[in-house]
Amino acid sequence: MAKKYLITSALPYINGELHIGHLVGCWLPSDVYARFCRAMGRDVLYIGGADEHGTPAMVGAWKENMPVLEYTNKYYEKHLRAVSDFNLSFDLYGRTHTELQEKLIHDLFKRLEERGLIEERETVQPFSVDDDMFLADRQLEGTCPKCGYEKARGDQCDNCSATYEADELINPRSAISGSTNIEMRKTKNLFFMASKIEGDWRKWLLQHAPKWSKTASAIAMGWANEGLHDTSITRDLKWGIPVNKPGYENKVFYVWFDAPWGYVSISQAATKDWESWWKNPDCFYAQFMGKDNVKFHSVFFPEQQLAMNDNWKTVDLLKAVNFLNFEGGKVAKSTGNGIFLDNALNIAPSDCWRYALMASAPETDDTDFTMARFVDIVNKDLNGLLGNFVSRVCKLSAKNFGEIVPNGTEIDSELANKINEKIEELTNAMEKCEFRKSIVALREIYGLANEYMTIKEPWVLVKNGDLNGAGAVLNECFQLIDLFARVSSPFIPDAAAKIQNIFANEHDLSWPTKYEHRISNGEGFTVPENLFNRLELQED
Ligand code: MF3
Ligand code: ZN
Repeated sequence: MAKKYLITSALPYINGELHIGHLVGCWLPSDVYARFCRAMGRDVLYIGGADEHGTPAMVGAWKENMPVLEYTNKYYEKHLRAVSDFNLSFDLYGRTHTELQEKLIHDLFKRLEERGLIEERETVQPFSVDDDMFLADRQLEGTCPKCGYEKARGDQCDNCSATYEADELINPRSAISGSTNIEMRKTKNLFFMASKIEGDWRKWLLQHAPKWSKTASAIAMGWANEGLHDTSITRDLKWGIPVNKPGYENKVFYVWFDAPWGYVSISQAATKDWESWWKNPDCFYAQFMGKDNVKFHSVFFPEQQLAMNDNWKTVDLLKAVNFLNFEGGKVAKSTGNGIFLDNALNIAPSDCWRYALMASAPETDDTDFTMARFVDIVNKDLNGLLGNFVSRVCKLSAKNFGEIVPNGTEIDSELANKINEKIEELTNAMEKCEFRKSIVALREIYGLANEYMTIKEPWVLVKNGDLNGAGAVLNECFQLIDLFARVSSPFIPDAAAKIQNIFANEHDLSWPTKYEHRISNGEGFTVPENLFNRLELQED
């Protein structure tokens, strides 16, 4: 039986416009990995969705003057559109405001309560007198108590990734009205006593974190040094999962108490077989996210999973990426800086974004993405090395041999050795989810093929009347085209399918362990249209 792989992509908040940061932060890395795993013959469950709860949706709805549910419905449609536009191969792209999610969270809460891990505490919470409500998390802004960043949110700082309780924020103000008339008022909330399972969690972390991406394990190990704090898991809000405890009728669970469990409830919605991934110790679980999400996935979610003591599958590979800036600044709809997903396909097809963004993945540092870089990558790699090769081989063959693959000879062993080395590098990088390295190896495979054709000069052989020699070289080139489709398909699935369609017979897009000849002598093919058009940099 094929090994099970569970792959989850962080569930973006359902507020505001989607942009290339969403693609590069979790959607593309997880999709590329899921496609790679399927091509390896693994049994994949790939889950994503929208995080509908928390204050982001409330603030967004308030700004657009809409009921929250209407607002989340509207933005969920935009998520689905992006998922289909960018070919994200989720088994299900779900959402968290569902009955399955509510039931799961209610069970989780009961279980934690039974195990003596829940405590009621009186806390003081910021109350906005002008808005007449308690302010939670993103409804509150102020100065970060750790780094002094002035636009920190109520629960988390976007600058230094610190998380804290609302009363620690300096100079608090309402994100809704901007009012600074904030009073600290008493309220009751429930706390998850994480400190009680600190030992289990630490043991777990030390076993797991060393195998994660560098960014992820560095952040997680930082938390291990801090120790675990009990965290408040309820909020004085009207939007979210209601709290299943008498006396808490006007409160909901904290968004991060329920969000990661969205992976489970969406899996439940996707397949009745969900436990064969989630309760299976032999399953391999990979999570993808931006670095600001690492704490919740390395501390909070596994704490909850361990605390339940119900054999939940915890993360084996946590892949986190840094932030992607655009043209030297933060991507933000408010300033108009960035590429937004409802417009990206007007600039270039999905495959171009997929490839260029993965080639620019901010894996080691925050990275600046520019239009010049985008155009350069598409023109050199996709249009140049890949597209031109395919088109030259097909045209030259069609002209001299008709639309059938000319007869070949034995595999060119010198070429095969070089290619095999690159396939190995590529496969290793894909296994580790090192996507920049993967793209480097992929580009080298394209490069080796181009070099082969340049050295062998089949057009010169034709001119000199050596048709057998020319045919053999072109045959080798068709084998390379078949290889291109296989190794490129996780990154550029549309182009890979088009390349494969060149051939009259069907050849699967399984992942190759080595370079091989799969195309028979005399197999029909058609000359395709240009796979990638050259892009021009628009000056404005
Ligand atoms: N909604 C969060 C964000 O956009 C991510 C949640 S990931 C989760 O930062 F799945 F764990 F919920
Ligand atoms: Zn900070």
